Amino acid sequence: MDENVESICELGLSELKKAEGPVGLERWYAAYLAKKGAIPSLLSKMRDLKPEERGAYGQAVNKAKEALSEAYAKKKALLEEEGLAKRLEAESIDITLPGKSAGLGHENPFRVIVDEVTDIFLDMGYEVVSGRDVEDDLYNFELLNVPKDHPARDMQDTFYLKGGRLLRTQTSAAQAHVMKERGGKTPIKMISPGKTYRRDDDDMTHSHQFAQIEGLLVDHNVSLANLKATLELFARKMFGQKREIRLRSSYFPFTEPSVEVDVSCFNCQGTGCAMCKGSGWIEILGAGMVNPKVLKMCGYDPEEWSGFAFGVGVERVAMLRYGIDDIRRFYQNDYRFLSPFKAK
Ligand code: PHE
Repeated sequence: MDENVESICELGLSELKKAEGPVGLERWYAAYLAKKGAIPSLLSKMRDLKPEERGAYGQAVNKAKEALSEAYAKKKALLEEEGLAKRLEAESIDITLPGKSAGLGHENPFRVIVDEVTDIFLDMGYEVVSGRDVEDDLYNFELLNVPKDHPARDMQDTFYLKGGRLLRTQTSAAQAHVMKERGGKTPIKMISPGKTYRRDDDDMTHSHQFAQIEGLLVDHNVSLANLKATLELFARKMFGQKREIRLRSSYFPFTEPSVEVDVSCFNCQGTGCAMCKGSGWIEILGAGMVNPKVLKMCGYDPEEWSGFAFGVGVERVAMLRYGIDDIRRFYQNDYRFLSPFKAK
């Protein structure tokens, strides 16, 4: 082989060994194999040779080119492999590290209670009726035996809207709707959960927005004993089989007689503690026999039909059940508050 070609080839091979990294490799390629590199310039020298010398010279240059190209390809493949290995190592995932929890949300305890109460009454054959947040005075007050100048209106300070409408102060408005809609048909056996609103200053035990679950039963010969048995069953399913209930006389314009219902304290089993303020009893709801005046106004002859009604405060039950001390927590959407509650 042409000596010059041979020495350039050897030099190329030894320089290729020294070339470092992809940059070094590309520099080497530019010096030897690229258009203006050593090999093409060797080929271009063919012109200056005598025709009989050209064949051998051309073969020698081509051989050198092949040797260099092959060595270059090998080194390139090697570098790529090394690069990949390095990247894989740098980007490797340690599957033994603890994962990050996605922080799943939970049902609001409020919702858990509504579902539980609803299930209890569905099991007893009640239907669930949805009421409306915006009411007419007629349904929230008048048909419930609370006329315009009635002092009972003071107990429920009301948000009035334009046009004489209002935000309902009690789910009892749903009673009046259902009776009116059924047009005298019986039996009625319904519950109606929903939001209620009163112009209260918010504090630990008051919220201008809260929720109730209304219950209404109208049929032949409904008695206070039926009401008591129903609420006892409810209290035991909600607060435990050993619970007792007691009825205290009270006043609501739309029930007569009216009662306030206490459940024996599930915290101290009735012996007296902070939760029941030492009395052994905790008030859970208001109830009573549907006032004959209300039955009549809503299209049911009180001589023939009777009924009972009750209203449960949802937040109150949730606070008792879960030991929550501040009603405002239900409405603050604080994940730390919500996360410990799970449906049974
Ligand atoms: N609506 C009453 C209240 O908000 C509760 C109640 C409902 C009482 C049904 C008797 C019957 O205080």
